[in-house]
Amino acid sequence: MPLPNSFLKKLEESFETTNKLTVKNERFYLTQNYTDQERANLKRRIQNTHQRLSYLATRVPATYAVCEDVLGRLAQYDFEFSSLLDLGAGPGTASICAKYIFPELEKIALIDQDKDFKIFAESFLKVAHHTQPLYELHDLTKVAKFPPTDLVVFSYSLNELSEKDASSTLHKAWLATKKALVIIEPGTPNAFKGLKKLRQELINYGAHILTPCPHENACPLSDNDWCHFSVRLERTSLHKYIKDATLSYEDEKFSYLIAVKGPQKTISLPRIIKKPRKRPGHVIFDLCTENGLQQETFSKKDKALYKDAQKLKWGDCLTGEK
Ligand SMILES: C[S@@+](CC[C@H](N)C(=O)[O-])C[C@H]1O[C@@H](n2cnc3c(N)ncnc32)[C@H](O)[C@@H]1O
Repeated sequence: MPLPNSFLKKLEESFETTNKLTVKNERFYLTQNYTDQERANLKRRIQNTHQRLSYLATRVPATYAVCEDVLGRLAQYDFEFSSLLDLGAGPGTASICAKYIFPELEKIALIDQDKDFKIFAESFLKVAHHTQPLYELHDLTKVAKFPPTDLVVFSYSLNELSEKDASSTLHKAWLATKKALVIIEPGTPNAFKGLKKLRQELINYGAHILTPCPHENACPLSDNDWCHFSVRLERTSLHKYIKDATLSYEDEKFSYLIAVKGPQKTISLPRIIKKPRKRPGHVIFDLCTENGLQQETFSKKDKALYKDAQKLKWGDCLTGEK
């Protein structure tokens, strides 16, 4: 389910009383806040109403598209979730998406420290899903413990905490997780470095990694490589205007991890961790496997295999499963 029209309508309404040019100008500072800050010395990244609107118009379509991809992967497994905890929820992007993907969700709780995002998320979840979520304003790092919940999600939020706070917040979240915990981060080398460390911490707590890793060994990627994927999303005219963009779409890069409680998966299929390299007469896949990083080449000479390989995408398992 792409970003719902009710969201886009509400977003357009928020711009009726706003100077769009100011929002466009503030996007520059918002981007700077996200790229410049030392992780150990973070200030709030979204610092005023115009930056918040810029986030809604340009970042939420992308974070929503990524949530849709990642939660869609989780939906292929046999889970039933009746409760969701969305940590660093912002405008409720992950909750809005999760309720479409897991309509059985009865209890949705969100935590963030941004009171304006709370207003937006509450009204939006009400319009889209007729759901009255519990949205609490807290600093994630200061909450003593989170309530036990089936599905816990951090969507683009753990990376906003210092390394030490991200570790302790993740530990609290893991203790509260009854079934699955999802972490989504920007697809950048720095964000992946943090995620790689958190992955190992989760494994040390006894978590099983459902996806994307086909194993629970140490991550085989070298320090100057990073595991990331990509989704394509359409841009609205508002999105294009604020970003000064000409293309009607953008490719959003992301990294993610889904950890679960309960039995380890029994089959571990190699995953395509880079864009397939299509060459004349053959295609090359870079794979993460139980035995480390590997490359597999499918040649046109083997017609049937080559035909199947052509359908595989970056992020898929070698069999075509997500
Ligand atoms: C990049 S936004 C992500 C919002 C939303 N999850 C999404 O995917 O669009 C990061 C959010 O984390 C929140 N956040 C950052 N540090 C926090 C903290 N210490 N306590 C609570 N929320 C925090 C911010 O207020 C912001 O809403």
